[in-house]
Amino acid sequence: MENGFGGIGAIMTMLVTGGAGFIGSNFVNYMLDKKEKIVILDSLTYAGNLNNLSKHLTERNLLVPNLHHRLATIQVDADQIVEIDHDAVSEHMHLRLKTSGWSPQIISPENLALEISHILAGEDLVFVYGSIADYDLVQEVIKECDIIVNFAAETHVDRSILNPDLFIKTDVYGTHILLEAARKCENLKRFVHISTDEVYGVATDHSFTELDPINPRNPYSASKAAADRLVYAYNQTYGIPVTIVRPSNNFGPYQYPEKLIPVMIIKALRNEPLPIYGDGKQIRDWLFVKDTVSALDCIIQGGIVGEVYNIAGRNERENIEVVRIILRMLGKDETLIRHIEDRPGHDRRYSLDDTKLCADLGFKYRGNFEEALASTIQWYVDNQEWWRKIIESDNEYAAFVQKWYASKM
Ligand code: NAD
Ligand code: TYD
Repeated sequence: MENGFGGIGAIMTMLVTGGAGFIGSNFVNYMLDKKEKIVILDSLTYAGNLNNLSKHLTERNLLVPNLHHRLATIQVDADQIVEIDHDAVSEHMHLRLKTSGWSPQIISPENLALEISHILAGEDLVFVYGSIADYDLVQEVIKECDIIVNFAAETHVDRSILNPDLFIKTDVYGTHILLEAARKCENLKRFVHISTDEVYGVATDHSFTELDPINPRNPYSASKAAADRLVYAYNQTYGIPVTIVRPSNNFGPYQYPEKLIPVMIIKALRNEPLPIYGDGKQIRDWLFVKDTVSALDCIIQGGIVGEVYNIAGRNERENIEVVRIILRMLGKDETLIRHIEDRPGHDRRYSLDDTKLCADLGFKYRGNFEEALASTIQWYVDNQEWWRKIIESDNEYAAFVQKWYASKM
């Protein structure tokens, strides 16, 4: 069995897909602080946000490839929304910068790999707008990269119940395209795929080890399970140097306000009812995102090719307990809690065994749940502009909230 790199000290470039999302941006910011060279590929869906990268992003390193002459019109309006005419693959019609002050460089495909290498000669980050499901684009971007870390995905279970189609297109087909490009890439040293604890399905009598069978039960987890096994198949069949990671439920700064913890913090701050599905006794194993990114660093350094690694949170809590802690920390009353109709096919408990990560790779968690939750709450208190832009002026967000919650509240 082949070991990890034993250090990525020699000059390596990482392709981070989904690097503008929640975990991806935390990972990129951590890696840039470590002076690694990063190329992000992100199609900026509703969940991707360039503000998550504002510490490191400038006009110079933001690239929009004009592949197949698809970008017929590009306009920058007063709100800095750059309209791009037709992205055939991902169906996302708009590049939404959701910020002010940046204009992308529009670049023709034949210059893309060269431009990336020019920028990386002077800077640590290049952002490329585009989809992992776009083979022509991916095979250009990948030329400059030694390691791929694949975060890009549709990630919200509730949205997968409303529209599974997009989950198959991105999580399954997108991963397939990335693997196909990786297969042709001679200098690729490692393909790290971010899967999820949800592929195992409901935990009953024990915490799942990497050897347990997978049994996904909703369209999101089934798509992630398909991608997870496809990545493994490309290792077994074509020898691609993959490592698969299955983290549990993450929380922390920059999490889009559709997942439990940010939804509850923001609703409590606004004195709005907190929607708890069913009895609220479902259990999740909460993992602080800063632990996730350092565990990923540890796996990139020392993980074995062809292997799967769980990252647990070691914090199994009922949802209702998490919500009560948030209310207590914010000094709000429990009368804000509202039990609503349960999610269909709701997984009752997730639970992971992380012996392999800790014993084999020597990983140590930093987080204490209450402290990490308190610092996350503080982040949402201090960064109201970040989430207000989404919940108060993003039509897509309003449409989802209306479709999912309105009839249940
Ligand atoms: P997120 O929804 O916050 O971000 C997803 C990112 O992927 C966004 O930036 C989005 O624009 C980008 N993206 C979507 N489709 C794309 C495409 N076709 N091409 C390129 N980019 C695309 O997600 P997250 O919570 O940061 O999760 C990251 C990864 O970790 C996902 O693979 C997810 O399944 C996995 N994961 C998440 C958790 C969690 O609790 N958040 C737990 C376990 C595993
Ligand atoms: P979520 O953050 O969507 O993550 P996942 O379903 O992928 O684990 O949900 C975490 C838990 O919180 C899950 O049991 C569903 C529950 N939940 C609510 O009770 N109310 C809500 O408004 C949301 C978003 C989630």
